[in-house]
Amino acid sequence: MRKVIIFLILCWSLGCSQNVNRPGSSTVSPATNSTVNSQEASQSKDPQMDRFINDLLAKMTLEEKIGQFNLLAVGFDVTGPVVSKNVDENIRKGKVGGVFNTFTPSAARKLQEFAVNNTRLKIPLLFGYDVVHGHRTIFPIPLGLSTSWDMAVIEKSAQIAAEEASADGLNWVFSPMVDIARDPRWGRIAEGAGEDAWYGSQVAKAMVKGYQGNDLTKNNTVMACLKHFALYGAAEAGRDYNTTDMSFQRMYNEYLPPYKAAVDAGVGSVMTSFNEINGIPATGNKWLLTELLRNNWGFNGFVVTDYTAINEMVPHGMGTEAEVGNLALKAGVDMDMVGEVFLKHLANSVKEGGVTETEINIACRRVLEAKYKLGLFQDPYRYTDENRAATTIMKQEFIEASRDIAHKSMVLLKNKTNTLPLKQPGSIALIGPLAKRQRDMIGNWSAAGDWEKAISLEQGIRNVAGSKVKINYAKGANITDDEQMIKRLNAHGGNLDIDSRSAEAMIQEAVKVARSSDVIVTVVGESQGMTGEAASRADITLPGQQLELLKALKKTGKPLVIVLMNGRPLALKWEEQNADAILETWFAGTQAGNAIADVLFGNYNPSGKLTTTFPQVVGQVPLFYNHKNTGRPFSGELLDKYKSRYLDVTNEPLYPFGFGLSYTSFSYSKPQLSTTTIKMDESLQVKVDVRNTGNYDGEEVVQLYLQDVVGSITRPVKELKGFQKIALKKGESQTVTFNITPDLLKFYNNNLELVLEPGDFRVFIGGNSRDVQAENFKVIK
Ligand code: NOJ
Repeated sequence: MRKVIIFLILCWSLGCSQNVNRPGSSTVSPATNSTVNSQEASQSKDPQMDRFINDLLAKMTLEEKIGQFNLLAVGFDVTGPVVSKNVDENIRKGKVGGVFNTFTPSAARKLQEFAVNNTRLKIPLLFGYDVVHGHRTIFPIPLGLSTSWDMAVIEKSAQIAAEEASADGLNWVFSPMVDIARDPRWGRIAEGAGEDAWYGSQVAKAMVKGYQGNDLTKNNTVMACLKHFALYGAAEAGRDYNTTDMSFQRMYNEYLPPYKAAVDAGVGSVMTSFNEINGIPATGNKWLLTELLRNNWGFNGFVVTDYTAINEMVPHGMGTEAEVGNLALKAGVDMDMVGEVFLKHLANSVKEGGVTETEINIACRRVLEAKYKLGLFQDPYRYTDENRAATTIMKQEFIEASRDIAHKSMVLLKNKTNTLPLKQPGSIALIGPLAKRQRDMIGNWSAAGDWEKAISLEQGIRNVAGSKVKINYAKGANITDDEQMIKRLNAHGGNLDIDSRSAEAMIQEAVKVARSSDVIVTVVGESQGMTGEAASRADITLPGQQLELLKALKKTGKPLVIVLMNGRPLALKWEEQNADAILETWFAGTQAGNAIADVLFGNYNPSGKLTTTFPQVVGQVPLFYNHKNTGRPFSGELLDKYKSRYLDVTNEPLYPFGFGLSYTSFSYSKPQLSTTTIKMDESLQVKVDVRNTGNYDGEEVVQLYLQDVVGSITRPVKELKGFQKIALKKGESQTVTFNITPDLLKFYNNNLELVLEPGDFRVFIGGNSRDVQAENFKVIK
């Protein structure tokens, strides 16, 4: 046994494992001039493109090639700490490969004409932008899109975003963001699809398909950019840009799958993340960007850094600016976002031998290929048609889609004695700092969305309920009373004002309004800028005096409906215990107010399910459903001391992953397996009858979880491996069948091999990750 262990350790350190996926076991040697031809050769299957790029590369000077690596921020939006200068001058000198934050057909055309007409080789620019959940017609924030559990709808949101963006001068979008996030303190949890790698993979595929379609040269598709590669969502303590350090088993099984899914779906570009991964920043990480991404996964697009991420390797402690520039290029970076490190240092580095011209050629080819794939060499102006913009942007069909998608994103968290839908109330006390807000509706990454076109909830209720319902409004509380926070939020796209009245006066007014109304609808949560980039919060309860407001309203004895707007799971223990109904609406986009009102009045029966666990208190974080069991799992027995537990709170979440109610109810039969034993290459089916047992037609997300009971490494207590969203009329039932294939049973073992290990498995079916019924089966050799 000892000999075996020593051998294994030796193998490990020498990298002789068959699956050489770990950093340090690189089979990639730096390119050298002696192997120029073979190393520079394109990997593409398009000989015409290869010929074109070969000819072009042959004409380019070293400086022109390096110019293609330069991505500048210029135009109508500011999305980072610095803005590029001397853009025109740099373009004229052939020192710019692309720009971002410039849109509208006229602005894009002007810049494109400038690039094409003033440079020697007339190479067109890429036009990128953070089109994250819609471009002008805004959809729910990505976390909200994900709670729809509707891949067709998610794909459609991306496809509409592509239609609008491409009509508005853009050809490249910085989306999808697929970072798995389990820490709601991290503000960017709002931008992704939640905590589950398998589910995140389905969303990643749908979004790439939506943006890119099946032909990138069409003028209504855009190139997607997968971000942030990799593990950005695992920032320590949920603090943005912080260090990430994790085991390779966790990385491969729980964090990498959505990135891989997007690569498999053909994503055209990848953005590096700001964080380090086990000691090496992603932007200088050759294992990540070359071995894993390109050699292992077969990615053949180009890699762009995040905003000044190369420069940031200096404070990371990776060397001087010139050194980290070399490191990034050698790692596999092709484009430098805003930082201009490549522009400043690479030519000299070639002279000094820090990088080779071969490495420059390889990266330059990838950038040029992207432009070729987009059809920019054929027609640099294909995305700048004013007429198409006029007939495409915010057209009625898109607005309707936005309302439909917003309906589907909402999650009903509580509905005591069927408080919702509202039964024709004569009057509503509409209370809360978010009740009249338009700006917040479109969220933080609202691209070119115009918040003045967004529907507030007050407006939505008027639109949906008309004059039948009297609205009695009171603000009730400021969203926060922290003046510093307000200043920060307003400096970055917010428009918050603080009511100068005292908190007590505002609450008293709200209580008065509540007393004279039939029902209270209180709209509380976060302002849009409290989530998203650089918006981590250590306290994830309702900010400011909002909880005090709710407590005062509760005392009126009127039915208390809480409409939540927020971009992360919040800790809502009091709210869960005391409200009559809670509807999670995230930041639901341009049509938010109408869509929320539709749900409140029962025109749409909510069907969303959470894709992130809501903790009871922040101290439980990170809390996620697919955790390991530990050797001392807590049974729930109060006096059970030596168990994995807290003294002051149970291990349970407030709301589990997959949770969401409906105005109707559903019952599940016992799951039926087609067999209880299968061989390694066989599949089995599991069936369940789902019945709508309530009084409304409704939709249910039927969820399938699996557990590998015994493994060569410990395995999670359950993992989502399938779901079906079904519509059932009241009284109706449907048999739902899942096919459990060998692929669904596989995981990455300690050698990072994707394996199926024979043995005992458990299958769980239910309407969320907690309320499930289980059956057992075996896989035999
Ligand atoms: C930084 C963000 O991390 C990234 O998501 C975004 O795409 C870039 N800035 C560009 O705005």
